[in-house]
Amino acid sequence: MAFILSPSLLSADFANLQQAIELINNTQADWFHVDVMDGVFVPNITIGQPVVKAIKKHAQKPLDVHLMITEPDRYIHGFKEAGADILTVHEEACSHLNRSLCRIREEGMKAGVSINPHTPVSMLENVIEYADLVLIMSVNPGFGGQKFIENSYRKIEELKRLKDRYNPHLMIEVDGGVSLENAPALLQAGADALVAGNAIFSAEDVARRIAEFKKL
Ligand code: DX5
Ligand code: ZN
Repeated sequence: MAFILSPSLLSADFANLQQAIELINNTQADWFHVDVMDGVFVPNITIGQPVVKAIKKHAQKPLDVHLMITEPDRYIHGFKEAGADILTVHEEACSHLNRSLCRIREEGMKAGVSINPHTPVSMLENVIEYADLVLIMSVNPGFGGQKFIENSYRKIEELKRLKDRYNPHLMIEVDGGVSLENAPALLQAGADALVAGNAIFSAEDVARRIAEFKKL
């Protein structure tokens, strides 16, 4: 089944990011997933615009930037400048989600919205036409290498129904605990894009692991 694979750089060696990027450039992976965390929205701090900009210099595939930060509106323009192609904000972090998504599109990026495991898919019903992508978190955001939350399948199926009804071009992306084992069922449930951090970067042969995913 054709799908987008977005390796999460969070699981790469941050001291050798260029090496990780060049490795991924030469694989069948489609995007780079970049996790931005502020230590407030999630209990971890990762990277900001300067590092995204540095990643952009070497990346030969689109940057899929996942903002796990409060008040993301303040940074939309900055992440465009830094080189984001897809910019995803969290529903839980936006008081005016419609406005945030419209601003991301106005900046010329694909607009994504993510929901945490506790947030019902129905929260997106009134904004789904304004989004290019919905990112379903299948772990509580903050760290790589966590265990997949099983009821995520149900949420993907529910979102797929909303997509078919209101926005057939919407992409459904799943993030957290994705593995070679659960990927087929995620695609079957309706996922168009899979993020994988630990499942890719823990492999001895990263390119081969990516090829195994893409063969699914
Ligand atoms: C978690 C991040 C994910 C993370 C996924 O908060 O949003 O993108 O890197 O890592 P794995 O695939 O290891 O669960
Ligand atoms: Zn992510």
